[in-house]
Amino acid sequence: MVVYIEDIGKHAAGSVTIRGWLHNRRSSGKIHFLTIRDGTGFIQAIVSKAAVGDEQFKSADHLSQETAVIVHGTVRADSRAPGGYEIDVSSLEQVAGSVDYPITPKEHGIDYLLDRRHLWIRSERQQSILRVRHEVIAAVRDFFNDQGFILADTPIFTPSACEGTTTLFPVDYFEDQKVFLAQSGQLYAEANALALGRVYNFGPVFRAEKSKTRRHLTEFWMVEPEMAYATLDDVIDLAEGLVVAVVSRVLDKRRRELKALERDTTRLEAVQKPFPRISYDEAVGILQDKGQAFEWGGDLGGTDETILSQHFERPVAIHRYPAAVKPFYMEPDPDRPELALCVDMLAPEGIGEIICGSQRLASYDLLVERIKAHGLPQDPFEWYPDLRRFGSVPHAGFGMGIERVVGWICGLEHVREAVPFPRMMYRVTP
Ligand code: 4AD
Ligand code: MG
Repeated sequence: MVVYIEDIGKHAAGSVTIRGWLHNRRSSGKIHFLTIRDGTGFIQAIVSKAAVGDEQFKSADHLSQETAVIVHGTVRADSRAPGGYEIDVSSLEQVAGSVDYPITPKEHGIDYLLDRRHLWIRSERQQSILRVRHEVIAAVRDFFNDQGFILADTPIFTPSACEGTTTLFPVDYFEDQKVFLAQSGQLYAEANALALGRVYNFGPVFRAEKSKTRRHLTEFWMVEPEMAYATLDDVIDLAEGLVVAVVSRVLDKRRRELKALERDTTRLEAVQKPFPRISYDEAVGILQDKGQAFEWGGDLGGTDETILSQHFERPVAIHRYPAAVKPFYMEPDPDRPELALCVDMLAPEGIGEIICGSQRLASYDLLVERIKAHGLPQDPFEWYPDLRRFGSVPHAGFGMGIERVVGWICGLEHVREAVPFPRMMYRVTP
C-alpha cells in the first residue's frame, strides 16, 4: 500500500510503499542507510543485500542526492529513529536520476541558496517553515470564519494609494491607463464591512518602499479584517485573539516542525491573553528610559520597535500615535485630536510590528480635508467618501502580515524564508 511518511505510524509492521526522493545516504558496507523524503516527512530505509539481492544492493550504493525513488518494505518501530519508525526495504526502484544536486549538506551562502530557491525549499528546514506557514494561514481563516466574518476579497489592480503614494508599483493598463498594485485592501474592505458587517480579505499586497531590512518584502501576504460598528478597543481585542489563536494552533499541530527549526517553544507558550497595552506616550517614555534619543512626535523606527518588543514577554499593543505620522484615514482621538485612534502590535523577541490597525475616520468633511492635506489625488478617491455620505458608522480594522508572523513563530532571521518565493528589492528570481 502506498503511504505517506507522516502516516507511517498507522502502518506499524505493515508492508508499505513510499514514493519520494533520496535525501541522504550512508553505508556500513553490509547495510545501506537511505534517508528518504516524500514531502510529508523523512524516514530511514534500511537496505541489506539479503533482503534486496545483489543487483539492487549495488545500485543503492550509487544513488545520488534527490534521486527519485520508490521503496517497498516493512515498517518497524524504532525508538532511536527521529520519527519513531524505520523501513526494512524489500525492493527499491529508481524513478529518475539527479546528477550533481547543487545543495549539499555542507554550508552554503545565502545568495547561493536564494538563487536556487526552487531547490532549497526541499531542505528539511525550509519545508518546516512552509508547513508552519500553511498552519498559520489555516488558523487565520478558521479564526475569522468561526466567528462569522465573511471573506470578501479586494482588488489587486487599483487606481489609488492606501498607505502613501510613494510606495506604489505602477502597471500599464489598457489605452495608456496606469493602475497600481494594491498596497492594502483596506479602503475596499471598509466598503465590504459597511455592506456585510464583519469581513476580511486575504491576499498578496505590494510595496515599492526601498527597504532592505530583514522585515521587508516587496510582495507579501496580508489578512485584513474590518468591522462595522466597531472601535479601536474592538480592534485590539480582535488582534489579541487572533495572535493567540494562531500561535496556539501552531504549537498544537506543528511541534515536529518547530523542533526541526530548533525553536524555543517556551517563548511561544508565553503568548497568552492579556497582552500589555501601552500608549505611544508610554512607549516614548520606555525608549527614553532605555537611553534611546527619541523625541515625542516621530514614528517608531525599526530599532525602537526592536527595543520595545524585547522589553515585553508577550506581544504588546501600542495605541494612539501622533496622527501626523499615520495615514490619512484614521479617526482622531476625541480627547486629544493630535493623536490617531490606531494600534501597532509588536511581537516579542525583537521582532517588531506584525499588526497595524485603527478606527477609521467617520466624518465626511474631515475625510475630504485629510485627503487634500495629504496631497492625495482626488479622482481615484471619489468613491471612498461615499461610505461617509450614506450611513457612516464607527468602523475599524487591521492588517496582519503573514511573513512577519511566520518569521516570528519560526524564529527566522529574515522574512525572506517565510514565503516560498520571496520578492525583495534586488531579487525577483527564481
Ligand atoms: O502597517 P501596514 O502598512 O498597514 C496597512 O496596510 C493597513 N492598511 C492595514 C489595515 O488597517 N487594514 O501593513 C500591515 C502589516 C504590518 O503590520 C506588517 O505585519 C506587514 O503588514 N507589512 C509587511 N510585511 C512584509 N514586508 C513589508 N514590506 C511589509 N509592510 C507591512
Ligand atoms: Mg504599519
